[in-house]
Amino acid sequence: MLKTRDTSHSLNVDKIRSDFPILKRRVHGKRLVYLDNAATTQKPKQVIDALSDYYSNYNSNIHRSVHLLAEEATEAFEGTRSKVQQFINAGSQEEIIFTRNATEALNIAASCTTSSIKPGEKIVVTEMEHHSNFVPWQQIAKRRGARLEIVSVTDDGEIDESDLESKLADAKVLAFTQMSNVLGTINDAKKLTKLAHEQGAVVVLDGAQSSPHISVDMRVIDCDYFALSAHKMLGPTGVGCLYGKRELLENAPPFLLGGDMIKEVHRDETKWNDVPWKFEAGTSNIADVIAFAPALDYLTKIGMSNLQNHEQEICKTALEELSKVDDLEIYGPKDPSRRAAVFAFNLGKIHAHDIASILDAEGIAIRSGHHCAQVLMEKLGVPATSRASFYLYNDYDDLEALIDGLRKVIEVLN
Ligand SMILES: Cc1ncc(COP(=O)(O)O)c(C=O)c1O
Repeated sequence: MLKTRDTSHSLNVDKIRSDFPILKRRVHGKRLVYLDNAATTQKPKQVIDALSDYYSNYNSNIHRSVHLLAEEATEAFEGTRSKVQQFINAGSQEEIIFTRNATEALNIAASCTTSSIKPGEKIVVTEMEHHSNFVPWQQIAKRRGARLEIVSVTDDGEIDESDLESKLADAKVLAFTQMSNVLGTINDAKKLTKLAHEQGAVVVLDGAQSSPHISVDMRVIDCDYFALSAHKMLGPTGVGCLYGKRELLENAPPFLLGGDMIKEVHRDETKWNDVPWKFEAGTSNIADVIAFAPALDYLTKIGMSNLQNHEQEICKTALEELSKVDDLEIYGPKDPSRRAAVFAFNLGKIHAHDIASILDAEGIAIRSGHHCAQVLMEKLGVPATSRASFYLYNDYDDLEALIDGLRKVIEVLN
């Protein structure tokens, strides 16, 4: 037993687990130890019930019909928008656009800024970006004849701030992640946003990993765009959000064209709808947006600072205990206060996929591969890593299972 659950910050993990039906499942005859939360999180029954309730009781299209079902669905859908606004402390609901995922949100942010980028101008990203916040900028740079500047990551897995400052000079855009899905690094979003704004750059913040784990506040950070994915924060798949400052969204062109995003259509011209609907063409993913609301309620009730404290405790113990496993190299900051409880690692020369397969046989679900961060993999000099990522329903017994599993991997493969 690594530790009891009885510490001052701990969440009531047993109670939390009882809300997640899937955690009762057995995998290969073993207790499921789910440590693939950076890929997607499990769903509490409140979210599952909301989906079923919508389809059973008020399934209808939104915004158009005047019948009761449509009114109920519209109200619930727009209710989620208001919850997202509160969750990230955005200035208004009109600044929240529903998308399919964080990837689409980042693509919309990129599309909104494209026309302002002229040949020779600079777009700045970092080496720790997920492909979703890298490829769109790389391609825009190619199309516009602009320069893509890639800020280095230090050996300790942090953004190299002096490199950032020199690359930021006269940049048009800074796009960076608030939390790395590989290194676990938590970047100082407020500070970096201020540095970028001093150079006149628009700031696009990837919040896909941060919004599930730490409290995020648009009015404090002051970024221009922010992307999140519902499925990484207890919500359903198929829903993401883009926050954008109202004036920027109003002045940007729409992303997709068609129904719902228009005010008037005539033979020769079309008038766009107001924001945010200008960016929500076609029938939205109504059910999943509605079922995102109980996920946000769940996190709010737990309290993001309680959740972060819980993960910090696990992170500290995990760094200590994992470092005792022979030949195990963990990437990212060594200081637990600088990072989240997501651990990408390699174990000697053993292939990451072999580690994941042997752990799977023990009921332990982790991820292996390049984690959609191939630029970072190149930097680390590895083709792939294994990755274990924790969330609010994980505890020291999950960490212990992981460590026992890794010892088994060593035993089997050496
Ligand atoms: C840091 C980061 N950004 C963006 C994404 C993309 O999220 P999605 O696949 O939900 O669009 C991910 C997903 O793993 C991520 O970890």
